[in-house]
Amino acid sequence: MATYVTQPDSSVSPRKGSDIVKFGVIGYGYWGPNVVRNLDQLDRVDLMHVCDLSASARERVQKAHPHISVTADPNDLLASSEIDAIAVVTPVWTHFELAKKALENGKHVFVEKPFTSNSAQAQELVELAAKKNLQIMVDHTFLFTGAVRKIRQLLDENALGKLYYYDSTRVNLGLFQHDVNVIWDLAPHDLSIMDHLIQTPPEAIVATGQSHLNGHEDVAFITVYFPDQVIAHVNVNWLSPVKVRMTLIGGEKKMLVWNDQAADEQVKVYDKGVSVTSREGVYNLLVNYRSGDMWAPRLERAEALTHELGYFVDCIAKGETPVNDGKAGLRVVKMLEASTKSIRERGALVYL
Ligand SMILES: NC(=O)c1ccc[n+]([C@@H]2O[C@H](COP(=O)([O-])OP(=O)(O)OC[C@H]3O[C@@H](n4cnc5c(N)ncnc54)[C@H](O)[C@@H]3O)[C@@H](O)[C@H]2O)c1
Repeated sequence: MATYVTQPDSSVSPRKGSDIVKFGVIGYGYWGPNVVRNLDQLDRVDLMHVCDLSASARERVQKAHPHISVTADPNDLLASSEIDAIAVVTPVWTHFELAKKALENGKHVFVEKPFTSNSAQAQELVELAAKKNLQIMVDHTFLFTGAVRKIRQLLDENALGKLYYYDSTRVNLGLFQHDVNVIWDLAPHDLSIMDHLIQTPPEAIVATGQSHLNGHEDVAFITVYFPDQVIAHVNVNWLSPVKVRMTLIGGEKKMLVWNDQAADEQVKVYDKGVSVTSREGVYNLLVNYRSGDMWAPRLERAEALTHELGYFVDCIAKGETPVNDGKAGLRVVKMLEASTKSIRERGALVYL
């Protein structure tokens, strides 16, 4: 049974200079520049080196951050006695080897989503970090958005009542990945949010999907069954003419809509619901629809990655385990594996 921790503490004060964490970043492609920019801006971080195999990526680092040293050899970072923590921002199939070496060399690791290519690798990294007393943080970025932090708070306050469902749509045109299908690319976001919000281990998964262009599924639908009649659904698609980032969460007392693309009022809470009473047995059901007010809670506006990396530095300094630790990464990888298995068997129910 997984153990869960509540929201990260955003009120932790900056630590003194001696607690500075020395970082190296491996991978400066599409997402790496965001990690580098954020680490470089954090007071308690000394970002020493960035590594990328590609010469053009290294040139981009030098242009944007002339004070940071660059290298083509990951071992310059992994074996460095100066570096305390490594961020692995490379394609998923490289995560395991790089993170393992970093941990073996006594470094904390921040690893991109999805954590690893399979659950055996994730399990091995979790055990290695525990043995070495090091922290793993998996970049489940969305947990640190104002929207997810607010939804977590609403659930903690039982504002929605008993949870009925979680239904998320994450579709757009491309970006086609060469090494993974649309599930491994986009669904880690939804599965990690779901894991964080529902906080109960799922029972089983059904997934369907189809590949049309490059041999990897580009359209997929995942259904996740949780105990107590909680059900979740995720729609991920690289072939959508429009970009949609929309999540519905239904509870017994209230329901909410999170539109991640809205300029403001991203989360709207509806006082809507249904209650059923039966007068004379099940054949005489009386259905009452409740349609009350809608309100949009105020959300924190800070960039999620800034908050997340600051929290990682806190966890390292205090020796605390982050909510998005290696075990959280492992739980998501297990759901991804189960989804892949179900797709291969054309929608078979796969127990977790
Ligand atoms: N958290 C998020 O919201 C988010 C968003 C996008 C991507 N990602 C994740 O970030 C990771 C990287 O994705 P991307 O889109 O930036 O990929 P990318 O292909 O654009 O960039 C990867 C970079 O890593 C470099 N690289 C590969 N292997 C290397 C190695 N062994 N040593 C040094 N450099 C190496 C490549 O040269 C490339 O520049 C993936 O795991 C992806 O899922 C996360």
